[in-house]
Amino acid sequence: MLRQIFREKFGHTPAHIARAPGRVNLLGEHVDYNDGFVLPAAIDRATYIAFSPATAPHTALWSVDYAEEAVFSPENLPAKPGPDWARYPAGVMWALNEAGLATPNMQAVFTSDVPRGAGLSSSASVEMAFAVAWMTLGGWKVPPMGLALICQRAENKYVGVNCGIMDQFASACGQKDRLMLLDCRSLEYQALPLPEDVAIVVADTSVRRSLAASAYNDRRAACEEAVRILKEVLPEITALRDVSVDEFNRFANKLPAEVEKRARHVVEEIARTKLAVELLQKGDVAGFGDLMNDCHASLRDLYEVSIPELDVMARVAQSLEGCYGARLTGAGFGGCVASLVKQDCVEAFAKNLLTGYESGTGLHPEIYICEASDGAGLVEG
Ligand code: GLA
Repeated sequence: MLRQIFREKFGHTPAHIARAPGRVNLLGEHVDYNDGFVLPAAIDRATYIAFSPATAPHTALWSVDYAEEAVFSPENLPAKPGPDWARYPAGVMWALNEAGLATPNMQAVFTSDVPRGAGLSSSASVEMAFAVAWMTLGGWKVPPMGLALICQRAENKYVGVNCGIMDQFASACGQKDRLMLLDCRSLEYQALPLPEDVAIVVADTSVRRSLAASAYNDRRAACEEAVRILKEVLPEITALRDVSVDEFNRFANKLPAEVEKRARHVVEEIARTKLAVELLQKGDVAGFGDLMNDCHASLRDLYEVSIPELDVMARVAQSLEGCYGARLTGAGFGGCVASLVKQDCVEAFAKNLLTGYESGTGLHPEIYICEASDGAGLVEG
């Protein structure tokens, strides 16, 4: 389909096709910007770009999903190109140039089946797909984690969203059938096998995030304030990652009430993620699932990034047969619940989750059974 559209737009066959996946996060939510540990998987939904080197002195992009064109070149940056969606590829061009990497102009057509604004990192997947495309045309090589960091910079400094590294990391470094454990401080990572008889089910509430960017920045600010105050008694800390649960309990009374709730989520979530990895390695899926349920409660009650529809989805999912654990995934304020479900129960689980959610909210959800997939790369050419 993409090749066909490319031929219609540009009159020849594209030289290459790149792909970069979205991600689902199983544990470690809102901890990447606190130097914590995250446990996402790349999913089998992705952004695809068909592209060729351009003959004209600019990059011409056609977005299939918006049916719209954008044109820009390294010389016009950092001015923002017309349509909003074009800020992601233009931001990647800008960040690559800032890193001294060539971004030859290209003709490109792209599309994505990662739902937008659903907490599955559609923007990171667009960024990573373009980074791979420019690496292909630019004649340079940067390892996946290096590309992820450049794309994060594009999002932070060009698009203006202050995200952590998790999404770009998962899209860049994901591996088939694996969960990816990342230490967000050292950037060391490790692939962990998903238990064999278990599926990841993603259920989209169909409620799109609103006010997410400012609320996200508020949460980050609360974490920074907690570190600033706790430093008075724990001078060696530089991030909430450095505070143990015991230390936190000892000194929590020094924090304003709201800051305490936010920081408690982070400190406990980092501990949960470390414990979850041990349980996974021992094959204790039930224990792992319990931690996912605890994570949802903490995001709802302490970090306060859930919404009623996510709570209904998580509650219904948690009550169904074969569900080990379920929780909102991604930044929150809308989007999806991820559940870990016994393989034999998946079909009935999806059906009952759909009807349970519909009767609880009057809304129609989308349900995907996800495969953990490989990270970004060329798929053709
Ligand atoms: C968004 C950000 C990530 C991460 C999550 C919350 O997806 O892009 O960096 O902070 O929210 O865990």
